[in-house]
Amino acid sequence: MSERGPLRLGVLISGSGSNLQAIIDAIEGGTLDAVVAVVISSRSDAFGLERARNHGIEAVWVDREMFDDAAGYNAALRDELQAHSVDYVVMAGYMRLLGKAVLDAYPLRVLNLHPALLPSFPGAHGIADAFAYGVKVTGITVHFADEVFDRGPIIAQRAVEIAETDTIESLEAKIHDAEHQLYPAVIQLIAQERVKVDGRVVCIAQS
Ligand code: GRF
Repeated sequence: MSERGPLRLGVLISGSGSNLQAIIDAIEGGTLDAVVAVVISSRSDAFGLERARNHGIEAVWVDREMFDDAAGYNAALRDELQAHSVDYVVMAGYMRLLGKAVLDAYPLRVLNLHPALLPSFPGAHGIADAFAYGVKVTGITVHFADEVFDRGPIIAQRAVEIAETDTIESLEAKIHDAEHQLYPAVIQLIAQERVKVDGRVVCIAQS
């Protein structure tokens, strides 16, 4: 933990929130020196909102329909994050492109998790696309987000093999297991200030 106290995370979700749960569990289990300051969902029915509230975490739905354009919506997201003194933004199944207002407020402080080995299989269906393509190895990627989907500098990746006996469902389960291990571990590296960025290349300092 740094002198300024635990890293304050703002977690953006759109759905189940199993990765949010993994982050909460790591914090409560003492392996991640952070706090989830707020959870923001793009959908009112995201189960992740309930997961957050079950742990006493403030959870809000910001309705895109309330804003004339994406810029206004993203400014509202930024204001919500700043109102909770968030240090780092963590996208965990957030299914919208994050706008300039948030990215400018949090330069190299927005993480994304993608369920494939980028730059292969970007987009909303990374697991299914890799499975349908027939690759024998896929995996997961944690990267800094920028203004293009799935493009920013890569922090960490883990490979996941696709066996001949795998189905799309069993592959999804393997991918999610890997995500639940890797995402909290990468956030802990950030909390320890060990993640250094040089252009596209990210290095992890030894502890
Ligand atoms: C994960 O597979 C993540 O890689 C992708 O969206 C999914 C979110 O799952 N970006 P969950 O909502 O955390 O369960």
